[in-house]
Amino acid sequence: MLGLKLPTDPRWVNIVEKNIEEILTDHAYCEQKAASTAISLIIGFPEKSELVKEMTALAREEMGHFNMVHDKILKRGWTLGRERKDEYVIELMKFFPKGGSRETHLVHKLLYAALIEARSCERFRLLSEEIADKELSDFYRNLMVSEANHYTMFLKFARKYGQKEEVDQKWNDLLDYEAQLMKDLGKKETMHG
Ligand SMILES: [Fe+2]
Ligand SMILES: [Fe+2]
Repeated sequence: MLGLKLPTDPRWVNIVEKNIEEILTDHAYCEQKAASTAISLIIGFPEKSELVKEMTALAREEMGHFNMVHDKILKRGWTLGRERKDEYVIELMKFFPKGGSRETHLVHKLLYAALIEARSCERFRLLSEEIADKELSDFYRNLMVSEANHYTMFLKFARKYGQKEEVDQKWNDLLDYEAQLMKDLGKKETMHG
């Protein structure tokens, strides 16, 4: 599924269920950061009109997701807390060497985004299938579909703006690296922890 090379340990859901406030807080920021990524691509690559159009729509959609998660937090009587550190994303973004041409930088950004969408989608699927809370189970099923579309879109753009064989090789190498990271994860009540 989604090209991921190591599935999340399903026991991660048991950890999450013990602290719904924590997962919703972390999740809210994941959506907000997804919107920020879309905006940063517009700022960095304004001449790529097709990308700009799609990133404009995506920023709106991700802020819509943020709003839905925020409403769930409020509905349960909580207030949005501070941003949680996403160690997974920090480690993931160490993979490609810094520098290189603008085009290379774009391809790397798109591949990171594709992978974060893919892993988020996998985590949402797991939550939708395993979480006892019916409201959250339905919520995550709907979000899973959106994130799968985003994964496909980012990968499509990476192949469009890069050289296809080179992009496919980089994608495969990134998936291997991510699977190594995932071996130590699935133990915290955060979306990628
Ligand atoms: Fe989203
Ligand atoms: Fe997304």
